[in-house]
Amino acid sequence: MMTQPSPNGDHLLVADNIYAGYLDYDILKGVSLHVDKGEVVCVIGPNGAGKSTVFKAIYGLLRVRKGHIFFDGQEITNWRPQEILRAGISIVPQLHSIFPQMTVYENLEMGLYLVRDKRRIQERIDYVLSLFPRLAERRNQQAGTMSGGERRMLEIGRALLLEPKLVMMDEPSAGLAPLITRMIFENVRRLNEEIGLTVLMIEQNARQGLEYSHRGYVLELGENTYKGSARELLEDPEVRRAFLGGR
Ligand SMILES: Nc1ncnc2c1ncn2[C@@H]1O[C@H](COP(=O)(O)OP(=O)(O)O)[C@@H](O)[C@H]1O
Ligand SMILES: [Mg+2]
Repeated sequence: MMTQPSPNGDHLLVADNIYAGYLDYDILKGVSLHVDKGEVVCVIGPNGAGKSTVFKAIYGLLRVRKGHIFFDGQEITNWRPQEILRAGISIVPQLHSIFPQMTVYENLEMGLYLVRDKRRIQERIDYVLSLFPRLAERRNQQAGTMSGGERRMLEIGRALLLEPKLVMMDEPSAGLAPLITRMIFENVRRLNEEIGLTVLMIEQNARQGLEYSHRGYVLELGENTYKGSARELLEDPEVRRAFLGGR
């Protein structure tokens, strides 16, 4: 028997013409995007464009009123966040989300609250620590005493604990100094190259976000206005003038 074509073609994640917003007002008015396995994709756009709203709509934190979201061959529109996590998407939220009183190790344990098997918990934490030597050195340090960059690394590490097929990051550079931002993006690139991590990131820091991505989308007033390879967007005169601070 022929296998049925999956509803999302070969894409890992598809948002198809989604509408979502707050109260009875739509912020997103027909946003579409996709992410393929092995890609780093960046959504850029000015403050207030609706970037975090896209993130929340995909992750079931905000009701999708119209349109569809597909992930890994099934429709996940308006699933609950925990179901989406189990399906293979994990997130690094925009606001800091670690527990400052707990150690690095304890924070990682918290990320595995869905897992019962003690040996598996140990294996996954060891694996994540092996990816981040800086965190491994600080495994018993109180997370709140680490630098902003190290805390962000911990958040990214925690997002990898459940072997996600996709990690979504809302402004990984938020609140970090330029040098630290670069270090975070370098790590995203390294994880993509070394372990094939697929990433959808949302960035107000448009130029750097695109420099570390394969493809990008520009979001403006809740609509996609430009899309293309990162290089195309970085070189597009309109995109440069309007979003990249270029001439
Ligand atoms: N909880 C909320 N209630 C009402 N309006 C909101 C809420 N969160 C965001 N908004 C509005 O939605 C729009 C898009 O916000 P957001 O998605 O956070 O933008 P971005 O992440 O691109 O800066 C903004 O006009 C913002 O004021
Ligand atoms: Mg935002």
